[in-house]
Amino acid sequence: MKNIAILCSGGDVSGMNPALKHFVEYSFEKGLRPYFIYDGYEGLIDNTIKQVTYSDVAGIITQGGTKIGSSRSKRFMQKNYRTQAKQNLDDLDIGMLVVLGGDGSFRGLDIFYKEHGVKFCGIPSTIDNDIKGTDYCLGVDTALNTIKTSIDAIRDTASSFRRAFIIETMGRDCGYLALVSHLTSGSELCLVPEKKYDLKSYEKNFKEQIKNGRRYFIAIVSEGIKQDAQEIADWFEKEIGIESRVCVLGHIQRGGNPSIYDRLMAYKFVTHAIDALLENKKESIVCYDTSGFSLKSIHLLVDGKKELDKKLLDYLK
Ligand code: F6P
Repeated sequence: MKNIAILCSGGDVSGMNPALKHFVEYSFEKGLRPYFIYDGYEGLIDNTIKQVTYSDVAGIITQGGTKIGSSRSKRFMQKNYRTQAKQNLDDLDIGMLVVLGGDGSFRGLDIFYKEHGVKFCGIPSTIDNDIKGTDYCLGVDTALNTIKTSIDAIRDTASSFRRAFIIETMGRDCGYLALVSHLTSGSELCLVPEKKYDLKSYEKNFKEQIKNGRRYFIAIVSEGIKQDAQEIADWFEKEIGIESRVCVLGHIQRGGNPSIYDRLMAYKFVTHAIDALLENKKESIVCYDTSGFSLKSIHLLVDGKKELDKKLLDYLK
């Protein structure tokens, strides 16, 4: 029996637990012995690695976050700790690794592979949806649904009071969550780092809309824009003349019951990852786009930055 391990790294996403469950089940189906590495690369360094079985994943499919913990490991950036990590894997005879993480996690993995040749397969997992080479990252659908529910709720109170609400979404430097939420929630304004804006250009139209009876505005702003959400609220108060409030959605976007789509994607991502390792693919990431799943070399993904879909961006007026 060959040994295979899985870890989660970087920001957790809803979908990691369904992925862990399928990892255990599919490993057994393929005659492999599954291990969990706790707390990401930190656990790889500290040897918190445990052989697991079905009972370790019972009932976790409904839970957000990750049962095995995650981390943003600074130590893994250092060569001596990576050597320690490799030693830990060797001691347990683990020759295959599945990593759920974002681009930072994959950069660390790329270095680890170049130094030690540990065979791995990565599964893009970040609500930011900002990994080059894939259109979809695990957790995005659940995050978007959480944002949708929040905006729908805020709309109720905004309309009751005649207010503008500035809703800040996560995404780091990527405006994907904000943009998709804008297009699907019918908000009046959306600001993302990928598109220059001039607040002045909205003034005449927004004032006219109030004159014509508009009671409220919803503005969705990505955390990566240069201005603070409060500055946008101040602009609404001063220039548009409507009382304003800021709502930073923050980490609620990362948690919650995984959506059906993320549960299914978790299942498929893990199946492709384990199959790839069994086919002796050594350093690949499972990617997904309109033509389906494919494996891409990690080198292609860690070089450069993912651009936000141009067609989607063009919808933003
Ligand atoms: O990468 C996922 C993400 O949620 C980003 O959208 C956000 O900027 C960041 O992580 C927050 O990081 P932390 O959980 O460390 O505060």
